[in-house]
Amino acid sequence: MVTAHTDSAHSTPLRTVVVPAAGLGTRFLPATKTVPKELLPVVDTPGIELVAEEAAEAGAQRLAVITAPAKDGILAHFGDFTELRDHLVTKGKTAEAAKVARAVEIITVQGVVQEEPLGLGHAVSLAEGALDDNEEIFAVMLPDDLVLPIGVTSQMIRVQEQFGGTVLCAMDVPLEEVSKYGVFDIADIPGQPGVKQVLGMVEKPSQEKAPSTFVATGRYVFDRHIFDALRRTTPGKGGEIQLTDAIDLLIREGHPVHILVHEGQRHDLGNPGGYIIACMELGMEHPVYGASIREAVTRAAAALAPATLASVQPLTSSS
Ligand code: UTP
Repeated sequence: MVTAHTDSAHSTPLRTVVVPAAGLGTRFLPATKTVPKELLPVVDTPGIELVAEEAAEAGAQRLAVITAPAKDGILAHFGDFTELRDHLVTKGKTAEAAKVARAVEIITVQGVVQEEPLGLGHAVSLAEGALDDNEEIFAVMLPDDLVLPIGVTSQMIRVQEQFGGTVLCAMDVPLEEVSKYGVFDIADIPGQPGVKQVLGMVEKPSQEKAPSTFVATGRYVFDRHIFDALRRTTPGKGGEIQLTDAIDLLIREGHPVHILVHEGQRHDLGNPGGYIIACMELGMEHPVYGASIREAVTRAAAALAPATLASVQPLTSSS
């Protein structure tokens, strides 16, 4: 039975969004030898700028970006670029100048260096030093995950205000896809179909062993208990400190953990398969390039023999 949380400290509004971006990006080699995957453009805008937009929309003032020593291009993207802007304005290219200015106008960016890729949990633990002493909650957004339409984090904050603790974003996927994801073991909450209490999590289970079809996506709202849990989390799979292990510890120790079920779309930008689909789908909606991309996609689909089309699986991305 879930009871509403009454501690007024949890009504603190969101100020900081943490963006872990220090991973090696091995699924995107050789591109990621020199270009961080977070700077690869979805049509024309890097994933890191899309996340900055989303964080600002959720009301955050600060983006704490966890970067690796070799990935300083990510923070450079949020520089002033005064010369380039002046040059574009002089040439009458004001729309282009506005595009250059946009990243730095959206939100204040603070870099936190993760010296070694010791795991997503370790990356999130480094954010503790970036928060103000009186910041009770913060959000984490994985730049690999594009969650559309924008706005789910604001809804998650409202759930956090009601129940306290941790709120995770989940999507309901077909049973055949559960083995690609972290799957939630959940209990319904009467009168709240979009919110569920989390009883546990299973990483990439078989269809038979999956406790539900609700899977994790890369959006989280935490209170400060996560830092304590991360300090007590030992390296798990791949020798890395796993964020899911720390969340599991919170659940086992009785902290409230809930999911908000996202009804929209999700694109996995962390591998070429998901990234190309995202570029294609968002490209089809682009005001300038959309018409020609739609035409090319329609032509490519028509060229597939009917038998091939019939055997096409639903479009999903794997991580
Ligand atoms: P991923 O596992 O998807 O990213 O981590 P990766 O390690 O870069 O990818 P591959 O498997 O090598 O292709 C999810 C998020 O966590 C960040 C990544 O940058 C990504 O945004 N991360 C991961 C860190 O910041 N630090 C780490 O030590 C690991």
